[in-house]
Amino acid sequence: MNPSLKTLLDELAAFGDAHDGDSANRATRMLNITPDTGAFLALLVKATQARRILEIGTSNGYSTLWLADAAAAIGGAVTTVELSPEKIALARTNFARAGLAGRITQHEGDAGALLATLDDAGFDLVFLDSQRSAYPGWWPHLKRVLRAGGLLVVDNATSHAHEMADFMAAVAADGGFSTSLVPVGKGEFLAVKA
Ligand SMILES: C[S@@+](CC[C@H](N)C(=O)[O-])C[C@H]1O[C@@H](n2cnc3c(N)ncnc32)[C@H](O)[C@@H]1O
Repeated sequence: MNPSLKTLLDELAAFGDAHDGDSANRATRMLNITPDTGAFLALLVKATQARRILEIGTSNGYSTLWLADAAAAIGGAVTTVELSPEKIALARTNFARAGLAGRITQHEGDAGALLATLDDAGFDLVFLDSQRSAYPGWWPHLKRVLRAGGLLVVDNATSHAHEMADFMAAVAADGGFSTSLVPVGKGEFLAVKA
């Protein structure tokens, strides 16, 4: 990673911590992944050579930058979706600052609506970090948009284990996926499509 991106990521991590600590309103918090989760995502992208990446839940783009920097190293790109116009604008600025805007396609709106428009098997890796109560409803599309051998990564698997339990159980019970719970950051639930 180049030093200027490292500096920007450190700045955004500090901003997220300070901002979220001061914010009583959950909707306006950044809710970024932890730095070790970012490094883990980057490793997964490179290890699996995931060139077509979908992220659900951009926020201000912290996790997107980790994904996009790794994608850039292997000739890939990231598509990301976010509901909040304010966060989309922050993310756009951060992508430009990082020099990674050309690797990232931003969508504004509901992830479920976007998922319904996406082609079958169009993504090598999907990173899910959004509205947890919607995950079971999104699951048929998540399955569909992943290619065979593709990887689903879901954040907050241990920090919000109770909220995630039904979804993780449904994925684990799906004969078409192998799963693993990885104790990095807030807990990463991994599911690879057969
Ligand atoms: C945990 S934050 C994402 C953090 C980001 N991945 C990061 O680590 O920098 C979850 C985001 O999902 C967005 N969100 C919630 N419901 C959504 C939906 N139905 N469609 C798209 N985005 C949604 C929220 O506005 C919030 O910014």
